Amino acid sequence: MATVLLDRVTKRFGRVRAVDGVTLEVRDGEFMVLLGPSGCGKTTALRCVAGLERMDAGRIVIGGEDVTDRQPGRRGIAMVFQSYAVFPHMTVRDNITFGLRIRKTPAEETRQRTLQAAELLQIGELLDRYPAQLSGGQRQRVAVARAIVMQPEVLLMDEPLSNLDALLRLQMRAELKRLHRETRATTVYVTHDQVEALSLGDRIAVMRSGAIVQCDTPSAIYNRPASTFVGGFIGSPPMNFFGGTVEEGGRSVRVAGTVLGLEERWAGAEGIRAGGEVLVGVRPEAFEVTTETRAGAFPAVVVVIEPLGGTTLLTVSVDGETAKVTVAPDTDHDPGQRVWLRPLPDRLRLMEPGSGRAVIPTQEGARR
Ligand SMILES: Nc1ncnc2c1ncn2[C@@H]1O[C@H](COP(=O)(O)OP(=O)(O)OP(=O)(O)O)[C@@H](O)[C@H]1O
Ligand SMILES: [Mg+2]
Repeated sequence: MATVLLDRVTKRFGRVRAVDGVTLEVRDGEFMVLLGPSGCGKTTALRCVAGLERMDAGRIVIGGEDVTDRQPGRRGIAMVFQSYAVFPHMTVRDNITFGLRIRKTPAEETRQRTLQAAELLQIGELLDRYPAQLSGGQRQRVAVARAIVMQPEVLLMDEPLSNLDALLRLQMRAELKRLHRETRATTVYVTHDQVEALSLGDRIAVMRSGAIVQCDTPSAIYNRPASTFVGGFIGSPPMNFFGGTVEEGGRSVRVAGTVLGLEERWAGAEGIRAGGEVLVGVRPEAFEVTTETRAGAFPAVVVVIEPLGGTTLLTVSVDGETAKVTVAPDTDHDPGQRVWLRPLPDRLRLMEPGSGRAVIPTQEGARR
């Protein structure tokens, strides 16, 4: 196993800064997810780690050694690509052993390692089949087995589940998690699927336009997004943002004509001053919804009701703006109905309207 360090990495394609001064430290045995919208530079960053791109600036350090000038084959990594290509004319066994044969690994060791990898991925029965005789999920497992049979110190995966249907993705996601627990290979995993990122990552690095905008545990990213971008990108549906005005020196905020009390930690936080504008960020599940007025709740009108089985999703209108709210499935709502939304005080976040940056409450600031 090994640590992986991207040290001020920059990669340009003509005028495009695909990766723009990224520094990221992946711990030994950690599962790090690179998450961000299409074109933000995830694949390019991963290819820089693999040695498949010549960087314009920066270093790649693996296991404490600067590998910037080393060939991909000499970096102790294995990669599963975005469009996983298994060789169609080779059996599953030959696909898996391909890399070992190139390395002239002794036959008995090759056999042992192949069986081990096949067992980990539960494709032991499929070794003599050809890829055309496999399901998408099985083919996917062959691609992963082919990578882990190399016993890499570092496993790089670029959207390995993107070609699978929803159910298979769900299954493979759990399998990848189990696989990581068993191999403990330091992993860098690229995805634009935020649910995948939340479920797999020890930590998530959120990328935007070639830069990392937040790197933290899934729960910190979900509950304490560093910006409106992160809050809006993570979560399905994403975080709601309401325009508000700070009152009483930061002890309350006015939203949709209603005064909402703020927890003490917001008064005195940087960016909070009386009369100032803020965005109040609330996750869809972090409201109490009632049909009668009450303190700390602002009015909204129900527009759309979507029963989703385990929960029901309401689209509501607040002062002409749309918001999404999840409620229990057995609640009665009608389109046009007036409801009151009370954000749970401990779940509410404040953001600066111009920059979109999160306001850091005082205790959290002290914890950092
Ligand atoms: N070989 C290339 N030549 C020119 N531009 C490139 C090349 N590869 C990537 N880019 C550009 O660099 C930027 C980052 O691309 P990259 O493939 O890293 O994005 P990504 O985050 O992996 O996106 P996706 O989620 O769509 O796979 C994009 O603007 C892309 O058009
Ligand atoms: Mg990509």
